[in-house]
Amino acid sequence: MSERPDQVVRRVQELRDIIELHNYNYYVQDTPTIPDAEFDKLFRELEELEQRYPHLVTPDSPTRRVGAPPLKAFSQIVHRTPMLSLGNAFDEGEVEAFDRRVRQTLGISSVEYAVEPKFDGLAVSLCYEDGILRTGATRGDGYVGEDVTLNLRTIRSIPLALRVGNRAGQTPSFLEVRGEVLMLKADFEKLNRQQRERNLKEFINPRNAAAGALRQLDPGITAMRKLAFFAYGIGAYEGANVPRDKHDQVLDYLASLRFPVVLERRTVVGLAAMLQYNREIWAKRGQLPYDIDGTVYKVNDLAQQVKLGFVSRAPRFALAHKFPAQEAVTELLGIDVQVGRTGALTPVARLRPVFVGGVTVTNATLHNEDEIRRKDVMIGDSVIVRRAGDVIPEVVAVQKDKRPSSVKAFVMPDHCPVCGSKAVRLQGEAMTRCTGGLYCPAQRKQAILHFASRRAMNIHGLGDKLVEQLVDNAAIRTPADLYKLGISALAALARMADKSAGNVIDAIEKSKDTTLARFIYALGIRNVGETTARDLAAYFGTLDRLIGADVEILGRVPDIGPVVAQSIADFFSESHNLEIIEQLRASGVRWKENEGEAMRQAQSVPGTSAGSGKVRGKTFVLTGSLPNLARDEVKEKLEAQGGKVTGSVSKKTDFVVAGADPGSKFDKAIELGIIILDEAGLLQLLQESQADLS
Ligand code: IVH
Repeated sequence: MSERPDQVVRRVQELRDIIELHNYNYYVQDTPTIPDAEFDKLFRELEELEQRYPHLVTPDSPTRRVGAPPLKAFSQIVHRTPMLSLGNAFDEGEVEAFDRRVRQTLGISSVEYAVEPKFDGLAVSLCYEDGILRTGATRGDGYVGEDVTLNLRTIRSIPLALRVGNRAGQTPSFLEVRGEVLMLKADFEKLNRQQRERNLKEFINPRNAAAGALRQLDPGITAMRKLAFFAYGIGAYEGANVPRDKHDQVLDYLASLRFPVVLERRTVVGLAAMLQYNREIWAKRGQLPYDIDGTVYKVNDLAQQVKLGFVSRAPRFALAHKFPAQEAVTELLGIDVQVGRTGALTPVARLRPVFVGGVTVTNATLHNEDEIRRKDVMIGDSVIVRRAGDVIPEVVAVQKDKRPSSVKAFVMPDHCPVCGSKAVRLQGEAMTRCTGGLYCPAQRKQAILHFASRRAMNIHGLGDKLVEQLVDNAAIRTPADLYKLGISALAALARMADKSAGNVIDAIEKSKDTTLARFIYALGIRNVGETTARDLAAYFGTLDRLIGADVEILGRVPDIGPVVAQSIADFFSESHNLEIIEQLRASGVRWKENEGEAMRQAQSVPGTSAGSGKVRGKTFVLTGSLPNLARDEVKEKLEAQGGKVTGSVSKKTDFVVAGADPGSKFDKAIELGIIILDEAGLLQLLQESQADLS
């Protein structure tokens, strides 16, 4: 290399400054300003320079530590063993190089690896003294973290005490458990739904929401946010029974101590199997209940791990294989306005095509006018685009230092770009809406597409091109018209062969057999997503009962706030909506109604009619004998609050209540990762459930 020494010194300093700033933005402010991948690139450049010019390494270089200094607001905890970082691989070649180095260092021809998902959450360390959770800390800079014990104690899946005299043998006198705190996708959706209801800002992604919740000074807020935890290793320990041979045994051991350990872990041998696992997890990531951003490979044999040792901030025995970056920088070419099902005008960014999250993205949502102002987005800017999993790509931030002088501001149109009706923004609402209603072809098309979508009526083959043609040709106006379509009307459309017309007709016919929840969701009532639709179906049991409910009764349904209750009431007070529903029923759309269940709920005392989400509708299995409560008593208590008690553990079981000498149901529960409650836990759940009701 022919760099001049003074240039190298300057670049090293420059990189350190930039990296520290980004560290601060990321870890302390929780507002990253560059894509992760770009940060990684800067970091690597610094690492490489320091490797080539070791005399330039200083102890305060960001390569010498992990993350950022802890927040001052919490007191500090020194980790007994440092919480290290992981080296990254961004393609299969780098994984191959890792495996080669490992084999060479160990002098063996094939290596056994424990492979796990890489959780996209926050690392924490839990310290148990004599089996009692004493402290819990964030990673901080890897050596010193923040004391978030009180917040961690609110996470239900973290044991506050290790089981004594359990199958794992004697409790260790000291144990550092390492793992990840995260927010499940479903809880994240729910949280954002609440934020919307209260007109509060929504969280960007589950990781940010989890970070915000964990670093609350008020543990009460953490508790409300519902966090989850997965254990993936241990740090220091004292005690005889901790496995000393293999990492996968350590995880089994943690599971036997009732820590949640991820089900999707495997032990594999050799490179091909590692890569195979990575591909499987990548394909499965959308269905997992939590966000992941890659795979972690760990040499399984603990003696081999010791032999491999560490580089400055990461072990040589483990590697994170990152999924394609979820963020990238590109140019914002223009902003279009799309009209949605409820008339909402959504500004959509037209982008210079960019590869992100594994696909080429050309459009990304900008959400609404306020978001454009808040992020200060201008046409012509360099923007950070994010595509996480199967989520719609979005513009998350602008690189203002790169802003050209030619940028243009966006103006929200005051008329619908599709039907020309007036567009209005109601007070207190973020969305500007077309007032055309079902006069607006865009709204009609979207309503029909939503009705036919996979999670609604699930009509195969009815895609946007076909709906567009059908609406434009006036063949259909409403979802009910779908069931009146004849094969000739369909086949008459351009590019429609008889056979595919027949397939669509069959699919429409097949969709008639549905469920109440799907039907409610398919109606496209504002603010009623899939979960709410399911809640409504379970609560009312029949469509007529739902239609007849007023705002007050709707408000009694668990998890339904006044805004949602009002939208539902508004929807059913429109006579044309009721007409469409009648037409649909007359065409033979049907579902099983649950009169019995609904009657029971409707007859019980007001206010308790719903039952809380905590016990109602949940399935429990009892095993072993509890210290104070008899089996029948437990059953009675659970059923009184709408819970169900069944005899065997399956994936559908929500909780296993375990007492002394539990049977094989207990092991099955651990294997399936089902929440296990002891008597105290059960009573607490019942109490909270009761409190929710009153
Ligand atoms: S093991 C010595 N396993 O990745 C290695 N880490 O860059 C210690 N992470 O902050 C980490 N999933 O929070 C490990 N299955 C997993 C993980 C995992 C996510 C995070 C961890 C840490 C970061 C390391």
